[in-house]
Amino acid sequence: MSESKIELKGLSQSYYVRSKETHKAEEFVALKDFSLSVGDGEFLSIVGPSGCGKSTLLDIVSGLTKPKDGEIIIDGHKVTGPALDRGFIMQGYALFPWRTVRRNVEYGLEVKRVPKKRRREISDQFIELVGLKDFEDRYPNELSGGMRQRVAIARSLAYDPQVLLMDEPFAAVDAQTRETLQDELLRIWQATKKTVVFVTHSIEEAVLLADRVVIMSASPGGIKQILPIQLPRPRTASDMRLSADFSWISNRIWKLLQNSSETLEESAEAASPASIKDVASQISESAQL
Ligand SMILES: Nc1ncnc2c1ncn2[C@@H]1O[C@H](COP(=O)(O)OP(=O)(O)OP(=O)(O)O)[C@@H](O)[C@H]1O
Ligand SMILES: [Mg+2]
Repeated sequence: MSESKIELKGLSQSYYVRSKETHKAEEFVALKDFSLSVGDGEFLSIVGPSGCGKSTLLDIVSGLTKPKDGEIIIDGHKVTGPALDRGFIMQGYALFPWRTVRRNVEYGLEVKRVPKKRRREISDQFIELVGLKDFEDRYPNELSGGMRQRVAIARSLAYDPQVLLMDEPFAAVDAQTRETLQDELLRIWQATKKTVVFVTHSIEEAVLLADRVVIMSASPGGIKQILPIQLPRPRTASDMRLSADFSWISNRIWKLLQNSSETLEESAEAASPASIKDVASQISESAQL
């Protein structure tokens, strides 16, 4: 892998919640000692049970919230707050309600002082990409949930950040749009070589997109395992549906999330095709427990 773009060092986060018994505030550790390095141009997916700290982690990497402990280094510089080198697509649609679709998409370009004519060209391009042509003048409250999420995606892509942090960006869109957006994201990523950290509840989506999948465990949130995904690229959602290796890896992740005691080697024996065994041995060699 190329040199590291993002270094996460010992990140921890706690929240104070009211105890059910004593009604006093007590510390809840949402993330504990999370360390990881993400390569320049790498596509990293993160999966894990609900509440394991995925959004907490992305909030910290975005710079919007400060960790209790640890630090984030991007391109050798410590992150101290949000900046335009990172695009953050949050869970839920954080759009500006007072701005139209077009002006939401142009927001980062305005901050970057891109001239109006160029802004218009870029916003046209990304509004079309996410299938919202003819909705440019609508306000967020006049759109469906999936449409709002697509505006958020267009807004983040439009100002061309080097790092994209995506928290379940396709969760609210229909299956067909989701596949289009997955393929488009892969195409954009391959063309621009952005570094992407992508949180999803869909194991298949994680495998389709990623170079590595981080499997998180809960209470406290941490890394359970990291699996490299050595499926050939370019990948498309429809090709992957037909791939035995793809299904095999996805099943492995299902089992790992369920805390299966079965080892990777054992299941490689059970699944006989040679190519699958290759993938299995690559995984067992580089998986970190
Ligand atoms: N502001 C907060 N105050 C108190 N607890 C919080 C707060 N935000 C998150 N938590 C708790 O921290 C834990 C991690 O939350 P987080 O939103 O990071 O999970 P997640 O992995 O993104 O879950 P999901 O998959 O459901 O989006 C959860 O147990 C949650 O209840
Ligand atoms: Mg979340």
